[in-house]
Amino acid sequence: MQALFPQFTQFDPLTGTIEGAPSLERHLSDLRGYFADQTAYQAAFTQEDALLYTVTNVEPAQGDGALHYGISYLLPGRVGREYYMTKGHFHAWRPAAEYYIGLRGAGLLLFEDEQGHSWSTPITPNSGVYVPGHTAHRTVNTGPEPLVFLGIYPFNAGHDYGTIQERNFSQVVVDVNGQPTVMERSAFLRTLTQI
Ligand SMILES: [Fe+2]
Repeated sequence: MQALFPQFTQFDPLTGTIEGAPSLERHLSDLRGYFADQTAYQAAFTQEDALLYTVTNVEPAQGDGALHYGISYLLPGRVGREYYMTKGHFHAWRPAAEYYIGLRGAGLLLFEDEQGHSWSTPITPNSGVYVPGHTAHRTVNTGPEPLVFLGIYPFNAGHDYGTIQERNFSQVVVDVNGQPTVMERSAFLRTLTQI
């Protein structure tokens, strides 16, 4: 009898893992240059190369029409005033869309298209977010507990991290008087130099 995995999978929304699938870890050191406040980044990194998130992908099939999916587990925390976040990416095959389903915690999805237009949506348990093609996406944990979500995408979407590594997102999600706030990166950087 053929094994049910990976057609059938069980995932744990508490730990953000999928039974039998290996997880990839991303630490603070993997996101050097991504957080806006470089002094705060250096201070945090000197203390500990903290785990920021894990990603567990399942690739059940290849070929036209096939889907891949993954579960992400993003820890709560901040670097300075900026909340823990994923690297973010475009899909290497730009037209590929993706569907996110929130499982645990509270956060925001940041979007930025190829022309530089930005917007964001919440992501919470029992909510779904459609990520259009040609759009970079990054997840930010704005809550006190881990943010866990599933992402489902065409098998050939691929991940282009390089474009974001070079230009980053034009918006940041930062703590302003205890409230998660979306700000232009340039405006946030100006608040840092005014101190
Ligand atoms: Fe994606």
